[in-house]
Amino acid sequence: MDVYILGIESSCDDTSAAVLKNGVLLSNVTASQAVHESYGGVVPELASRAHQQNIVPVVDQAIVQAGITKEQLTAIAFTRGPGLMGSLLVGVSFAKGFARSLGIPMIDVNHLHGHVLAHFIRENEDDNNQPEYPYLCLLVSGGNSQIIKVNAYNDMEILGQTIDDAAGEAIDKCSKVMGLGYPGGPIIDRLARQGNPEAFKFARPNIHGYDYSFSGLKTSFLYSLRDWLKDDPDFIEHHKEDLAASLEFTVVDILMRKLKMAVKDTGIKQVAVAGGVSANTGLRNAFHDYARRYGWEIFIPKFSYTTDNAAMIAITGYFKYLDSDFCSIDKPAFARMTE
Ligand code: KG4
Repeated sequence: MDVYILGIESSCDDTSAAVLKNGVLLSNVTASQAVHESYGGVVPELASRAHQQNIVPVVDQAIVQAGITKEQLTAIAFTRGPGLMGSLLVGVSFAKGFARSLGIPMIDVNHLHGHVLAHFIRENEDDNNQPEYPYLCLLVSGGNSQIIKVNAYNDMEILGQTIDDAAGEAIDKCSKVMGLGYPGGPIIDRLARQGNPEAFKFARPNIHGYDYSFSGLKTSFLYSLRDWLKDDPDFIEHHKEDLAASLEFTVVDILMRKLKMAVKDTGIKQVAVAGGVSANTGLRNAFHDYARRYGWEIFIPKFSYTTDNAAMIAITGYFKYLDSDFCSIDKPAFARMTE
């Protein structure tokens, strides 16, 4: 019998729904929320309201695009956390109600596991370019910077992680200091393509092991900029491409050095990248460069699977479905990993 999984993602500011048939993607529909742009960051209250407006049409569209009816669904997978509580509650409550009304099982998915397993999203039957276990995954987003050893879909070891800011957070904050728009990552990426990555030097952390730190870089960027602006009030306008390129170069270099260390120590040469920052051109180029230089086999998700999406939730849910790992109706959403 065919297995149809509906995935639902609503942990931050994207409302997304996807349908899989036997692990192959049939549809992936995402409604992003432009409402936050003028605030320079996600406003939780507005995010929850937008999810409420979007959830039904998005799920509807995902089912229509998949060419099935809701009665054909086998199970519903949903992000239970971590994320913004108000946003999660919309997706979690909807998933529970929908699953109950259809009389089918629910599968709770950890949002971060979804990102790490995005490499298993298959767009067609012939799409067989997936990593084998164990592989290493650099998870880089607005809230996380981790090196993870993935032993199985449900067995992940965090080898290292940021002790303060995440990589995406640092980029976004530096971009904000430069007066650029939100989110800063894609803007910095675009500007960096026209700049000199070695024009400016910023502080690099000296942290033991595989852990990261990005708050020193952020402060160094801020203080350097403040000094330069004293001499030239138009410094940012004159140098924004070089500033972006130097910032991106520093972040990517910090990320890659630790990852290289983890590859060397574990002997695992299958290396993946996931999360919003994996859309970054400099980071993607660095992955290709390291693959050539050190013989890594690399896995880089398509752009549509780097940021929050329901396809990654659906595929994680599919793996749990195969193990009959279902979720009871009373399991609540959780905002943080420690809950
Ligand atoms: O995984 P994600 O969508 O969700 C959160 O963790 O919030 O990641 C969002 C992060 C933001 O910091 C954003 O600026 C960053 O990913 N980002 C990028 C690029 N596209 C998104 N950073 C650098 N270059 C990009 N092209």
